[in-house]
Amino acid sequence: MAKIMKASGLDLSCYKKKQVQRRLSAALAKFRHANLYDYWRTLKEDPIMLSELMDFLTINVSNFFRNIGRFDDLQTNILPELIGTRKTLRIWSVGCSGGQEPYSIAIILNELTPEIRHYILGTDVNRTILQVARDGIYTEDDVKEVKPLLLAKYFVKQGDEFRVRRSIKQMVTFETHNLLSDPYETNFDLIVCRNVMIYFTDEAKSNVFKGFYQSLRPGGVLFIGGTETLMTASAYGFQLISPFFYRKVYE
Ligand SMILES: C[S@@+](CC[C@H](N)C(=O)[O-])C[C@H]1O[C@@H](n2cnc3c(N)ncnc32)[C@H](O)[C@@H]1O
Repeated sequence: MAKIMKASGLDLSCYKKKQVQRRLSAALAKFRHANLYDYWRTLKEDPIMLSELMDFLTINVSNFFRNIGRFDDLQTNILPELIGTRKTLRIWSVGCSGGQEPYSIAIILNELTPEIRHYILGTDVNRTILQVARDGIYTEDDVKEVKPLLLAKYFVKQGDEFRVRRSIKQMVTFETHNLLSDPYETNFDLIVCRNVMIYFTDEAKSNVFKGFYQSLRPGGVLFIGGTETLMTASAYGFQLISPFFYRKVYE
């Protein structure tokens, strides 16, 4: 199992063992391999199989304005307050999957400050899903939470597809990045990390929270999801300001 995880590029020790075992057994059945050794040998020689495994291990479910109430809070309270403190914002959407999350933020920012060019970084460990993000083409299900006015303004409907407009695409930079092993950029005003750490061990999560603290500027905000629970926020230097939003306390 360790060899397979190594081949995938994911650090096994940072993931909950039982969950990984369950997904690997399912992958084994799906890709019709008799045993892990046989599977590992195929992975070493076949980059397509390797990328299929990656897709399987990293669950990519996402949609625009996921948990709409949180995005309303972001638009009404969190972002206006951050905009009041800086000319341009630096925002990082971690584990951004097919781009739905950073594009949702780009849409909100375009509504709030159309004249300002902010920096929005979307990163994910899975290269295949980042291509979906760069293409910016979505299904009706992906955009079901987008308000009709915003849907008409920021998407072009072509048949069954919804293409995000170029003006919004240009606002987001996508990069491959492994949260568990790559260095983090710094001086962010907002870090969004939602539904990414579901399989991470407590120790790995703790290290990631420490990394986010370093990556945020003082007064910057961390926006997490239901799977990221920050039990002892103050121990990491964060203060709860609204459900799922934490401010980095000034150093
Ligand atoms: C369920 S999606 C969440 C997408 C989006 N944040 C949302 O809430 O809708 C989880 C994403 O985290 C990514 N991911 C998992 N482990 C990661 C890691 N170690 N580094 C970076 N991204 C990771 C997966 O590839 C996947 O695209």
